[in-house]
Formats: sequence, C-alpha cells, structure tokens
Amino acid sequence: MSIITDLHGERPIVTDMDAPDLTILYGSQTGNAEYLAYQIHGASEKNGDTVALASLEEWLHSDDRALRRLLVVTSTHDNGHMPDNAAEFWEWIQSLEPGALAGMPYAVLSIGDSMYDDFCKAGHDIDGRLHELGAVRVVEGVDCDIDFEFTATKWAKPAVADLLAADPWTADAPTAGVEAGMAESTGDSDRRYLARVSASQNLSKPGSAKEVVHYELTVDDGGFAYEPGDSISVFVTNPPRLVEEWIAVFGDVDVTRQDATRPLREVLAAEVELRLVHPGLIAGLARLRPDNRAVARLAQMLQTGDRDGLEEWLWGRDVLDVLTDLDCRDVPAEDVLDILRPLQHRDYSIASSPVGDDGRVHLTVNGVRYDAGGRSYAGAATSFLRERAVDGSPFEVRRVPAHEFRLPAADVPVIMVGPGVGVAPFRAFLRHRDAVGAGGRNWLFFGDQHRAYDFLYEDEFADLSRRGTLTHLDLAFSRDQADKHYVQDEIRRSADELRDWVAQGGYIYVCGDKVHMAPDVDRAFADILGGDAAVDELKVQGRYVKDVY
Ligand SMILES: Cc1cc2nc3c(=O)[nH]c(=O)nc-3n(C[C@H](O)[C@H](O)[C@H](O)COP(=O)(O)OP(=O)(O)OC[C@H]3O[C@@H](n4cnc5c(N)ncnc54)[C@H](O)[C@@H]3O)c2cc1C
Ligand SMILES: Cc1cc2nc3c(=O)[nH]c(=O)nc-3n(C[C@H](O)[C@H](O)[C@H](O)COP(=O)(O)O)c2cc1C
Repeated sequence: MSIITDLHGERPIVTDMDAPDLTILYGSQTGNAEYLAYQIHGASEKNGDTVALASLEEWLHSDDRALRRLLVVTSTHDNGHMPDNAAEFWEWIQSLEPGALAGMPYAVLSIGDSMYDDFCKAGHDIDGRLHELGAVRVVEGVDCDIDFEFTATKWAKPAVADLLAADPWTADAPTAGVEAGMAESTGDSDRRYLARVSASQNLSKPGSAKEVVHYELTVDDGGFAYEPGDSISVFVTNPPRLVEEWIAVFGDVDVTRQDATRPLREVLAAEVELRLVHPGLIAGLARLRPDNRAVARLAQMLQTGDRDGLEEWLWGRDVLDVLTDLDCRDVPAEDVLDILRPLQHRDYSIASSPVGDDGRVHLTVNGVRYDAGGRSYAGAATSFLRERAVDGSPFEVRRVPAHEFRLPAADVPVIMVGPGVGVAPFRAFLRHRDAVGAGGRNWLFFGDQHRAYDFLYEDEFADLSRRGTLTHLDLAFSRDQADKHYVQDEIRRSADELRDWVAQGGYIYVCGDKVHMAPDVDRAFADILGGDAAVDELKVQGRYVKDVY
C-alpha cells in the first residue's frame, strides 16, 4: 500500500487494493472528454469489473481516492493548457516525488484539435508526468482530433481490457513487460521500407471528373508484412513546379538551418510542408508580423477556436497562397522556414491481399489537381506517385496497422460500404477472403458519379461475384439520373436483408469520405437497425468499424 499526500501535504491519498478495478478520470472544458469518459465507463463495467468515474478535480477533492488502475481522458484548452477541472490534478502530480506512483498501470486518451500547434498537449503532459512518477503505461496513449469519437472508441475497448489485465502496483514484470512489448511493436510499426511502383493503371475512364489510379508497389527490403485493413504511409517530395514558384519569390539562395548552409531549393523540395497549411503558420506569421491586420484576423479565429471559419478560408490555399494573400511574401526565407512544418507523409488504404498478391502493395489513389486564382495546383503525394514514382524510383513507406478495421473470423458475414476510393480496403478484404477460401458472405456497397467512367475495379468485382466470393454488390451512381442517388439510399433499400445479416453476427465497415458520406451512412444504419443506440452497441462490440478521412 502506498500513501501519498495531496497538494498541501495534508490529506493522504491511499492507493491500495480496496480501490475500484479501474478509475476513469476526465479533464473537460466543454463536455467532449466528459462525454467520452462516460461512454467508456458504460462499456467498461459490462464484465463485472468495478469502474469509478469522476473528473480529475472531483477525484482530487473526494474522500475516497484509492487507485488501482487509472485511465485519464482529457482535452486541451487555451492553446496548450489543461482544462479547468484538470489544472489542480496537474499541479498535484507535478508536486509528487519521483517514483510516487511506481507500478500503477495507466493509460491516457487525449482529445484536441490538430488545428492548434499544441495538439493534445494536456494529455501528453499528464501522460509524461505519470510515466516520470513510475506509473506503468500499459497502452500507448492516443490523440483524437475533433472527430474524436471513432478513434477514441476504437482505442478504448482494447485499452480498457489491457488495463484491467495489468497487475496493479507491481513495478516489475508482468506489467513492465507489457510496456516493453509495446515499445517493441511500436518500433516495428515505425520502421520505414523502400518501395517502388512496379505497375499502375488508370481506373477512371475518359470523361470522368476524377483521376483514380491503381498502383502496385514492390517493397524492396525483406520483412515487410501487412494484413487486410492496414494502410500505408507514403513519404514523398514536394512538386518541382511548386518549388520553382517558391524560388521565384524568395530567390535561388542558400539558407542556414541548424548550423548548416544549403540551397533553399533543396530544403523546399524534401523537408518542409508546402501544401497543407497548419495553424502554426498563422501563429508564426502573427509573431513575425504583429501589425498585419489580416494575419491578426486569422490568428483571432485560431484563438477563439473558429475552426470552420479558418478551414473555409484555407480550403484550396497552399502555404504560398497564405503568404501572398496575407501580404507576407517579404518575410525572409529563413524566417518562413522556421514556421513551416516538416513535410507530412500521406496515408493510403492497402487494396491488396497479403496472401493473394505476391507480397505487393496495391493502392487506389484519387489524384488531387485543380486550378484556382490563376494558379495550377497538384497534390503533393498524388502528383509524386503519378509523375515521379511511376518510373520505378524508390521512395519510403511505412505500414500503418489497423486496430479494429480487420476481417472477422472466416465464416462471419461482412457488410462493406466504400464509395469512391473508399473501396480500396474492401478490395483487400475480398481478394483476401477469396485467396484463403473464407466461407463468410460478403456484401459491398459501392458508388461514385457515373457508372460509365467511375466504376472502379468493375471487372474484378464481376469476377468475384461469379466466383461466389462477392455475395451482393449494390451500386449507387449519383449522377446517372436526375435525382442524386447514394450508397445510403441503397442501404435503406436493403434494410430487411441487412438486418438479417447483422442479426446473424455480421460486421459493418465504412471507408472513405468523412465529411459527407460517413455521417449519411451512419444515419442510414441507425435508421434501419433501430436507432443510434443499436449502432453504438455494434461499435462497442467492434462490429461497426470506420476508416474515414
Ligand atoms: C487513413 C487514411 C487512408 C487514406 N486512404 C486513401 C486511399 O485509399 N485513396 C486516396 O486517394 N486517398 C486516401 N487518403 C487521403 C490521402 O492520404 C491524401 O490526403 C490525398 O491523396 C491527397 O494527398 P495529396 O498530397 O495529393 O494532396 P495535398 O497536397 O495534401 O492536398 C490536399 C489539399 O488540396 C486541397 N484540395 C484538394 N482538392 C481540391 C479541389 N478540388 N479544389 C480545391 N482545393 C482542393 C485541399 O486544401 C486539401 O486539403 C487516406 C487518408 C487517410 C488519413
Ligand atoms: C479556445 C480553445 C483553445 C483550444 N486549444 C487547443 C489546443 O491548444 N490544443 C488542442 O489540441 N486542442 C485545443 N482546443 C480544442 C479542444 O481540445 C477540443 O475542442 C476538444 O474536443 C474539447 O474537449 P472538451 O469539451 O472535453 O473540453 C481548443 C479549443 C478551444 C475552444
């Protein structure tokens, strides 16, 4: 039994085996983290474990502060600060002696908004401090963005199970062993491999508004493995034409960064993000140009959390547009580089089967290309793949393992909703089930604009239908008739049979557009399956799984 005093050294906090099996404590300013904590609490008690729930503040001031295992769920506020009801807890854990929480199993779920530079900082701070105090991080923490529910639910179920399985208050193995194991597996999933495009094919036909391309990658190094449902991160360089546009503004000069002097061109090509604007750029410009009113207006949106307003302004603009439109093109190149993010990787669902496709990694990629305000734009990754990787030049990739987005047992029915390039992981599922001879039924809902131009993998799906692997293929082409018709309409049309599949243990998967498609599909399933609670229950069981972006 450990006895720790509170902030003022007065009230002892008893941490012993009389405590609930798990204590969930939340820090929340406007209710999101609190809502999540309640959701997780409801789902956690189902197996007869005792699970306590309180805000970090309530818990600190309660008389019953025994802890056996701890799950912290917290948001971040005011640009990197604790929510009000987490502040005192934060102060308290900072005041404890090193080792004070040695052996206590814990995990931290952070929610925030990636628009802010200090994304999820409060959660990271608490996580780091608990670790310093000797508590055992049983599960790597998770950072959830504004659409936190899916990521949080996906993470929480196995995290709670792992926490409850951990031995409380034993500083050594097996809990320490769990942590060591985590680090090992994280290290492996962090490993980058060299890949090359070994084949590619246009999937969109002439007349389509889209440019969807099927790529087949060969991964050079041995040891690369993946499972159906995984994604892959692709590490790219910036479009050369975009680099030239920057050089035209800032000159073909050398710049000094981290004590090394190099051509600006080189830094722009491979090191900094030129396409996706992040809030730190606005905050950085506000520091560099304190008198600039346009910058101040955007910085104000950032301060007040007006994400919609900021996103609306940013849509379609790249970093150079921001510098131009905010009258900041005269900021010295080195100052601009200081406030740019490192070049970001882009993720793609793997569309192939590790069993049926000779170890190759297939991708289904929708090209980003558009004109606006007299400039022509190309997406960094999609243009990289289309223009610079197709000749077989190597580039780096990293596996992104799926957690819940996995095929169930071979005989379980699977319902897949994947319009547009959202179909990619379902091609992987179908090819895999076909390759291993899984007997479960498979139902795919696919849609796009026009059947004549946008029916991705039409021949393959026809073949899988003939072979009996694809039990049902329901199609919704939105622009082939006067009234728009979408996958959610097809879901409603097939309500009775879908209910049967779900009653027989079926799993539902949704992949693709998170802004419009995913909420509409959620609504359709809630309507046909008996309301939001029915869908929530499936989510808790891991039988309603989304991979949306
Ligand atoms: C888990 C996950 C899986 C994914 N799987 C796939 C997949 O299987 N297939 C796939 O194609 N993508 C997938 N994506 C999306 C992919 O990661 C990239 O975001 C996408 O390909 C664009 O990358 P890019 O570098 O070419 O474009 P970027 O350089 O990143 O440019 C994107 C930006 O361009 C602007 N923009 C885009 N279109 C327009 C337009 N029409 N008009 C004005 N502005 C516009 C917007 O500001 C947008 O933010 C996935 C994403 C995630 C997170
Ligand atoms: C004024 C303001 C400042 C914020 N600052 C941050 C921040 O620095 N980092 C972050 O990740 N999220 C930040 N957020 C986003 C919140 O963490 C996010 O909206 C979260 O869902 C709120 O959860 P809550 O309702 O539990 O407090 C901020 C939000 C507002 C309104």
